[in-house]
Amino acid sequence: MAFIKWESKYEVGVPIIDAQHRMLFDHVNTLFDAMQAGHGKDEIGKTLAFLARYTVEHFKTEEDLMQRSAYPGFKAHKAVHDDLTRQVVELQGKLDKGSQMLSLPVMHFLRDWLSHHISEEDKKLAAHLNRAAAR
Ligand SMILES: [Fe+2]
Ligand SMILES: [Fe+2]
Repeated sequence: MAFIKWESKYEVGVPIIDAQHRMLFDHVNTLFDAMQAGHGKDEIGKTLAFLARYTVEHFKTEEDLMQRSAYPGFKAHKAVHDDLTRQVVELQGKLDKGSQMLSLPVMHFLRDWLSHHISEEDKKLAAHLNRAAAR
């Protein structure tokens, strides 16, 4: 069973954002599977790096859309993105040094973050984008 399952409640109604969110779910599941399979830190590191790169790319897509549509919540939303990015970089550093292992609590944190962020911030952004497009 997938660690994080895509459900229609996660759909925000902006095709590029929804497609990227689905990919993010896939990458989180791949990372979870790698952890469950007991892969070593090099393999886990690679999988996490892939997820991290994709996440940064996704944040950039959303932030470009925010700027192009003069989204009033840009600063706050970007700050939330930056905060997660910082935490992931920190995690990568710890895994690399061997001072921390990829653990179930870390995976739960990622899952909860994603699910909450999509349901709150990204939905607000999507509503704004769809309103702007309808004008
Ligand atoms: Fe976002
Ligand atoms: Fe997002």
